[in-house]
Formats: sequence, C-alpha cells, structure tokens
Amino acid sequence: MVDRTIYNRHSRLQASVQVPGDKSLSHRAILWSGMAEGESKLVGIGPGADIQASLSAMRQLGVTIDGDKVVSPGISRWVSPGEDIDCANSGTTIRLLAGILSTATVQAVLTGDASLSARPMSRLVDPLRSLGGRIDTTPDGTAPLRLGGALKVVGASVFLDVASAQVRTAFEMAALAASGPSTLDSPGGFRDHTERMLVSIGLGEWASKTAFRITPGKLRPQRYDIPGDPSSASFLWALAAIHRDSKVLTPNVSLNPGRLGFLQILDEMGAGIEAVVTGSIGGDPVGDVIVRGAPLRAVSISGELVASALDELPLVAVVAAFAEGVTSVSDASELRTKESDRIEATTALIRALGGGVESRPDGFDVVGTGFLEGGTIESQGDHRIAMAGAIAALSADGAVTIRDAGIADVSWPDFYDIVESVW
Ligand code: S3P
Repeated sequence: MVDRTIYNRHSRLQASVQVPGDKSLSHRAILWSGMAEGESKLVGIGPGADIQASLSAMRQLGVTIDGDKVVSPGISRWVSPGEDIDCANSGTTIRLLAGILSTATVQAVLTGDASLSARPMSRLVDPLRSLGGRIDTTPDGTAPLRLGGALKVVGASVFLDVASAQVRTAFEMAALAASGPSTLDSPGGFRDHTERMLVSIGLGEWASKTAFRITPGKLRPQRYDIPGDPSSASFLWALAAIHRDSKVLTPNVSLNPGRLGFLQILDEMGAGIEAVVTGSIGGDPVGDVIVRGAPLRAVSISGELVASALDELPLVAVVAAFAEGVTSVSDASELRTKESDRIEATTALIRALGGGVESRPDGFDVVGTGFLEGGTIESQGDHRIAMAGAIAALSADGAVTIRDAGIADVSWPDFYDIVESVW
C-alpha cells in the first residue's frame, strides 16, 4: 500500500493536458476486437490496471495481442481457459465479459479482487438468462461467475430498473448471438457508447429515447481510435473550477452525452465551460474542453444527471466544499455498489478534512464552507476516492495524506505526478 502526502503550493492552474484514453471505450474496443475474427487495431487505449484486466482476459480466451495489434480467431473459436479469468478490480471487465460469455459456447469462470467480489452481479442474471444465456453467481449474487456453454440463444425483451451501461452492454453483446432480435429498456442518463457502436455497424437501432433494439450478427475487425477519458479529465476540470484564476484545456476527450453530467454541474455552479466537438469516432462525439475558475454556488443533483455524472459524484463533493450554499446529491444509491461504498467514502473524505457533510441512503449534502483543512484520508481501495482526495489536497489549507494512494493505478498510473506538476 503506497501512501502519498500532497501539499497545496497555492499555485494556479494554466495548462493543457492530454488525459489518458477513455476507460469505457478502451474496454469495449478490446472486447469487441477479441470477438471479431481477424486483425483489429487499438490506438490510444487507457494505461490503467483495469484495462490490463480486459487485455489479459482476451489472451486467456485465445486472442493474440501484440502492441496495438489484436488478432482473434473470432468468438466462435475462443478456447475455454484452463484457469479462472481474474478481472482484478474491474467492474467493466467482469460485467461486459459476463454478457459476452453467457451466450458463447466456451465456458469460463470470472473472479476478481476483494472489492470486485463484493459487488452485485445478480443484476446480470435475469436479463442474460432470458436470452438463454448461462450464468451462475454465488448464493450472495456475487463473483465468481460461471458462464457459457449456451445451447440455444433466443431474442428477448427486457426492462432494467437501473440505468447501468454495464448491464445494458452485457445484454446487448449477449443478444448478438441470439436467433432473433431483442429489445432493452432502462431509465435514462446512461453512457450509450455501446448503442452508438451497434448503430454505426447496422446491428442496432433506437426504438425510443431509452429502448434499443439489437439485431443478431457478427462484429468485424476494425481500427479503434480511443479519445481521452472525461472521467480522468474531470479531476483537472475540478481543480480549475475551484480556483478563480485557473484555466485548463483538455484536448480530444470523449463528449458522449452520458459522460458530460459533471461539466453540466460545473456549469450550473458558475465555472466557465467551453466544450467544442471536433469530430466523431465510431458514432461517439469527441472534442476539446476548457474549464475556467469562478466563484461557485451550490446545486441540487438528482434524476438522469446522476447517471451521467456517476463516477464524478465524489469529486462533486470536493468542489461543493468550495461553493456557496449546500449542495445535495439524491437518487444516487448506485454509488454504494461501486469500488467502495462511495456515499460513505465521500462523506468520510470531506469530514476528514474538516468539511461539513451528511450522508443519506441515496446521496449526501455538502455544506460549502469555502475551505478544507489538512488531514489524512482513506482511499478505501477506490481509485476515484483517492484521486478526488488529491484535488481536495491541492486546494486544502494543510498537508493531506492519502492512504493507499497507489490505487489510482487502476485508471491513471501517472495521475499524481501530472496534477502536481501543473499546480
Ligand atoms: C461503465 C458504466 C458505469 C460506470 C463505470 C463504467 C461502463 O457503471 O460507473 O465506471 O463503461 O459501462 P454502471 O453501468 O454499473 O453504472
């Protein structure tokens, strides 16, 4: 466990930072290249440990990956791995791969670290079984997951009660192997990277704002260009927003609307935001974002905005400590199912630095005191808590020690060196 102490040099942020490749799109590109027979190319995938988990899972199934080149025999010729596939800390690897494997002919067991082994997997079971997919969890509804060996895969119509892009994607990928079309609906606000990709290759179409129809078919090999990760850029956006004479440019990041809730929140709080779409990759918009600091005011966050800012909500709490008024986050009980219980981890972070915060079953309230003090915070084995802690540290009145800070490697191994070097 690597701890890190961070000091606020009372500087200002004036920088342009190219953030690492988007984690959600990197996982998808790796898994889709692995499913497609032939040679694909992965350009700019993320550097984190979660992405390594998806790469090594593909290798265990018989896919060859050499640098940016992926050569696959195709999903129908994958091999059943002799050993369990360890998805480490990566919820996206285990849930997406569970969907893909559930309707495949190979058989595999997916495991993870202590955090992943405690996260809910039962939400996958009914949707995948309705297609004829084969999936078993532990009696607690957690990993290890036993998957595959499906005999007959049929089209199905499913409604999910959570706005989970991971569960949606698992179902959509599983449904590609069915004998007929399927439909899927859920509450809105989710990142729709998978649906955009399926539309772009003619294997899916929107039936309504949230309902999607999947046409069975095979993925083909292709080149994937991965833009920067808006969830990683958010840490820099937050630092700039908090400090009035700061400005940061993050070029070439994904501007998928399901990822932009945090920018909308910063905008409503009063920060200066410019987002310019410069192009589109695989149907997904990309562009440049500039954030400028300004006096900030509190906001209330609920409904679809929660899903589109989900991974950034701990960071919202840090920014809220520097805004005038009480910021409240509601409808966010999903935060309790992430790498840590992010409602309690966020509350503990703000409290450890002398801030005013109360948790509720579905969110939290943060009192904007205008400052945070030094102290020691626990990452709770959660990369986004550790990284939100670093932004709090660079804005706090005293030194802040982050316990188990090394967990940031899950999404951005150079994170601390980069944010400290621009501050
Ligand atoms: C992700 C979806 C979200 C998000 C996670 C990545 C994805 O999870 O929190 O970091 O790539 O589909 P849920 O779909 O479970 O909300």
